[in-house]
Amino acid sequence: MEHNIQRRRFLHIMALLAGSGALGQLLAACTAAPVAQQAPAPPGAPGPAVQPTVSPEPAAALRFPTGFRWGVATSAYQIEGAVQADGRGESVWDRFSHTSGRVQHGDTGDIACDHYHRYEQDLDLMQSLGIQSYRFSIAWPRIFPSGAGAVNQRGLDFYRRLIDGLLKRGIQPLPTLWHWDTPQELEDQGGWVSRDTAQRFSEYADTVFRAFGDSVPTWMTLNEPKTVVTVGYLQGFHAPGFHNPHKAYAAMHHLLLAHGLATQAFRASGAHGQIGIVLNLMPIYAADADPQALPAVRVQDGYENRLYLEPVLRGQYPNDLLAAIDRESNLIAMIKPGDLETIAAPIDLLGVNYYGPGYVQANGDMVAGPHPRSLAGWQVIYPNGLYDLLMRIKQDYGDLPLSITENGIPTNDILNGDTVDDRERIQFLHAHITAAHRAIQAGVDLRSYHAWSLLDNFEWAAGYSQRWGMVYVDFHTQQRTPKRSALWYRDVIRAHGSKLVEPSARSVPQPMAPIADRAGRRS
Ligand code: GCO
Repeated sequence: MEHNIQRRRFLHIMALLAGSGALGQLLAACTAAPVAQQAPAPPGAPGPAVQPTVSPEPAAALRFPTGFRWGVATSAYQIEGAVQADGRGESVWDRFSHTSGRVQHGDTGDIACDHYHRYEQDLDLMQSLGIQSYRFSIAWPRIFPSGAGAVNQRGLDFYRRLIDGLLKRGIQPLPTLWHWDTPQELEDQGGWVSRDTAQRFSEYADTVFRAFGDSVPTWMTLNEPKTVVTVGYLQGFHAPGFHNPHKAYAAMHHLLLAHGLATQAFRASGAHGQIGIVLNLMPIYAADADPQALPAVRVQDGYENRLYLEPVLRGQYPNDLLAAIDRESNLIAMIKPGDLETIAAPIDLLGVNYYGPGYVQANGDMVAGPHPRSLAGWQVIYPNGLYDLLMRIKQDYGDLPLSITENGIPTNDILNGDTVDDRERIQFLHAHITAAHRAIQAGVDLRSYHAWSLLDNFEWAAGYSQRWGMVYVDFHTQQRTPKRSALWYRDVIRAHGSKLVEPSARSVPQPMAPIADRAGRRS
């Protein structure tokens, strides 16, 4: 998600310059569109909104459906550390973060939150907060240190301990198989630009399904392929660090293929649970509600949303983008017979990461719109965009069960005694959970919500300069201190949302005894 604004502008301009026939028709159709209407779209194609909907006053007490789950999310490279423990192989993020100038302050995930050694303590912490669902990722290089070949049993053993520890505490495991940490040895053979990597991924997935299929109710294949395609292969700010449209769209197609192959492997493994994919999606609005911006809105919506939703849920790449992308990348030649059917292998649920909307001007530039940005720079804060997004998915793709797999904000957190007063995070979470509840009331089949993140952690190219956790981590001592938001979330979970009132109207939650280990162990 880093440097998203530049990324969006790049894609948008690229598509406008390419100017497909469909876009031309759309331009003609849109110029006279009244401000409050949807952009006309080709038959059957979903349409982005020109204006955000208006959020009503939130009710003081909300009621979430029985069975709705409250969770937190993390990912392996961002928290585990222990990068050489128990036979783990190198990942592209190890290589990238150790390359000078790639990550702020030269930070790496070598130690991160040392979760690999401290997972029991972190599970206790989750239990004490009442967390019901834990979204984490499995590090492919722990299972197959070189990406393929012999299984590293000690890697599987770690995740067995983690999964059993979750189940013992009544917390549902929600593993993601790939959160960007591709084995470096596979990268050296072409990485996602090579079609073979999709096959290797499905073999890795099959191994993990067979190891844990009896204990895991829900799986996610990939996390945010879009971010890796754009930030990793087009902009070069994330691993593997390319600036190459050909590589980018080859990687996109092979990532989606990997998702489809893994989904098929899951069904074939006989595992009982459910499977889905995590996409980072955003509503795109016309800046200043300018109808002239509608064609640009539709193009941007294509790159942000439809390019991933359409193949996964409908077995097709968006026609209005394909010609422009093909000119940059020869994508069409990479699509082999049967690929799109594989990519569209039926999934049981869709994971949605929501961080904010995008506003597009008629010239294709992305702007913040009328909303503030967070400390992350790329993040525009607009909670009601989550409602618009969930409603749009329902409208365009039907009643697929959804999970919010990430939603959060970095704040300027200062440890003060035994607490961190992160009321900005509480306000953010409160407003987004309220928007999610409105979507449920409007008929969206939303099953769970996961705050990003449990712990402050390694925030990719920003290193440790941004704190996204509900739990403060002192990276020198590894002491964990629940922030005010963690205690607020604990109370929300206890009341199943029904006491979801504005934080200003509440007394400050009582701090918990810090769950601390000052040994400062390093892997
Ligand atoms: C992403 C990733 C997370 C990030 C989080 C905050 O969305 O980029 O899934 O790993 O840390 O989103 O940027």
